Amino acid sequence: MVRCLGRVLLMLFLTILPFARGTFVGFNIGTQVSSLPAASDIVLILKNNQISHVRLYDADAHILKALSNSGIDVVVGVTNEEVLGIGQSPSTAASWVNKNVVPYLPSTNITAIAVGSEVLTTIPNAAPILVPAMNNLNKALVASNLNFLVKISSPQSMDIIPRPFPPSTATFNSSLNSTIYQMLQFLKNTNSSFMLNAYPYYGYTQGNGIFPIDYALFRPLTPVKQIVDPNTLSHYKSMFEAMVDAAYYSIDSMNFSGIPITVTETGWPWLGGTTEPDATVENAETFNNNLISRVLNGSGPPSQVNVPMNTYIYELFNEDERPGPVSEKNWGVIFTNGTAVYPLSSTGASLGATNSSGQFCIAKPGSDQDKLQAGLNWACGQGQVNCAAIQSGQPCYTPNTLENHASYAYNDYYQRMHSAGGTCDFQGTAIITTSDPSYGTCAFTGSSNATMNSTLPSIANSPVSPQSGCPASTSTSYLRILSLCATLFGFLTLLRRPF
Ligand SMILES: *[C@@H]1O[C@H](CO)[C@@H](O)[C@H](O)[C@H]1NC(C)=O
Ligand SMILES: *[C@@H]1O[C@H](CO)[C@@H](O)[C@H](O)[C@H]1NC(C)=O
Ligand SMILES: *[C@@H]1O[C@H](CO)[C@@H](O)[C@H](O)[C@H]1NC(C)=O
Ligand SMILES: *[C@@H]1O[C@H](CO)[C@@H](O)[C@H](O)[C@H]1NC(C)=O
Ligand SMILES: *[C@@H]1O[C@H](CO)[C@@H](O)[C@H](O)[C@H]1NC(C)=O
Ligand SMILES: *[C@@H]1O[C@H](CO)[C@@H](O)[C@H](O)[C@H]1NC(C)=O
Ligand SMILES: *[C@@H]1O[C@H](CO)[C@@H](O)[C@H](O)[C@H]1NC(C)=O
Ligand SMILES: *[C@@H]1O[C@H](CO)[C@@H](O)[C@H](O)[C@H]1NC(C)=O
Ligand SMILES: *[C@@H]1O[C@H](CO)[C@@H](O)[C@H](O)[C@H]1NC(C)=O
Ligand SMILES: *[C@@H]1O[C@H](CO)[C@@H](O)[C@H](O)[C@H]1NC(C)=O
Repeated sequence: MVRCLGRVLLMLFLTILPFARGTFVGFNIGTQVSSLPAASDIVLILKNNQISHVRLYDADAHILKALSNSGIDVVVGVTNEEVLGIGQSPSTAASWVNKNVVPYLPSTNITAIAVGSEVLTTIPNAAPILVPAMNNLNKALVASNLNFLVKISSPQSMDIIPRPFPPSTATFNSSLNSTIYQMLQFLKNTNSSFMLNAYPYYGYTQGNGIFPIDYALFRPLTPVKQIVDPNTLSHYKSMFEAMVDAAYYSIDSMNFSGIPITVTETGWPWLGGTTEPDATVENAETFNNNLISRVLNGSGPPSQVNVPMNTYIYELFNEDERPGPVSEKNWGVIFTNGTAVYPLSSTGASLGATNSSGQFCIAKPGSDQDKLQAGLNWACGQGQVNCAAIQSGQPCYTPNTLENHASYAYNDYYQRMHSAGGTCDFQGTAIITTSDPSYGTCAFTGSSNATMNSTLPSIANSPVSPQSGCPASTSTSYLRILSLCATLFGFLTLLRRPF
């Protein structure tokens, strides 16, 4: 469960408030990535995978800006380096909030500030200023009247609970008593959640064979291997639930109740070195898929069945620049080109619902902008795509990016034409995905939610102006498309600024 020290230096953030929306699974976005996509491409990847919640480890201005009007909820992070100054000075806290939170709301939906990353175990000397830092930030939010929108918490490692099993007897490390007591009081007063980083991967690999791997991977346990708390007789079907429950019982032992837990990090590496045999694609795929179905089922752990275990998976991209063992660089679920490392499916609405019968054609992240624009022009022109949905004011207009509009148009073309030989290529700027790219009220063609209305004007073989990609004919049946072309060219000029 001990994260490598290297991680702590960079990964500083997190949180979420569990009751504001329904149950969700989100993703951490660490950025120690050699080929980190542009912020607009990161948002495109999030959209394409229907990711609704993300946690950043800092408050990167480009990413926060790109997330505006995306409908994605964001947890921003105060880094461990920043905690000290903020804890010592209310004005430093106010500047932090004024620089990193206030300018982005409401278009970027910042829902929480995660103060530091595992501060109590990685920089225990900073414990005395942690809650003062949280308080100072909260006062700054109150001053801006944002404290009802933005919650403050501080992600802690499972290591602050020295003996997590059986859950019913778990308590926090008593030498942290006074800090944790103050923190729980703060969370209670501000209606915030307790942020927990809980890694069955480490619980299993450092458990010296005490626990079966099926328990760590949410797989069914044979009758002889049932994991039962001897005091409560609760059956624990997964180590993940037992960890979350250990934290609930630890909070309970401090005489606090009604503070929900948000899991700010969990996950499983898909590749490891020779001494890390459990870091495999199969295990990572099993863990994360089972985790997603368990969380989206909506029920909590045995002691808190009515409180959803909202969770952020660690992590979106492989962070190849992280120091440490091979596994440290391979926790990601999506390559930076947008391809899944392994398939993630889910039965829930909040994440990547994969329809095995469905294939979608979308813009490939990182594509040349001129080629994308040409592809979009062609699709909405000669390709006969009904591009009404990506016009200003229509459901698929925001995010107002070339990538998003091209995705919509490419996919519509592909859904209608692939049975007749149409391909998903567009000069190499398109890519097939099995995740339904629909979001909010924007239904992509071929989505189980979309009605495949065949209202195409019949303009087969219409002449096409070679420069614009728009039909050259002016016969009435083309008028709608011509005006769409004009509109598209209008807003595409705006889009050509560098993102
Ligand atoms: C912002 O996030 C909060 C909490 O998840 C949610 O209640 C609210 O609807 C979101 N607002 C927008 C504009 O998405
Ligand atoms: C409790 O925390 C203290 C201070 O961080 C640490 O020295 C000690 O090892 C911890 N105890 C256990 C059992 O983890
Ligand atoms: C922990 O701290 C609180 C508040 O300071 C105090 O009331 C309580 O007795 C302490 N508990 C232990 C076990 O030290
Ligand atoms: C916290 O919740 C209570 C009870 O629902 C409410 O009265 C109070 O205004 C909330 N405070 C904040 C800061 O959200
Ligand atoms: C919690 O409450 C019980 C009963 O009132 C008391 O004995 C115990 O010391 C309290 N624990 C803490 C940590 O305050
Ligand atoms: C959710 O998962 C829990 C634990 O595995 C199980 O007991 C419960 O029946 C599930 N609920 C639903 C609605 O599937
Ligand atoms: C995406 O990147 C991965 C890893 O570099 C590679 O294996 C895969 O083939 C790439 N996919 C596409 C479609 O380029
Ligand atoms: C998958 O797609 C098929 C055909 O479009 C549809 O009938 C089915 O309901 C979809 N399944 C899900 C889970 O969306
Ligand atoms: C499909 O519609 C259902 C019910 O209206 C909604 O909950 C779900 O989010 C929609 N899915 C997509 C991919 O838009
Ligand atoms: C599909 O066509 C029907 C009838 O022509 C119309 O009522 C409906 O709004 C259309 N749906 C979409 C998604 O365009």
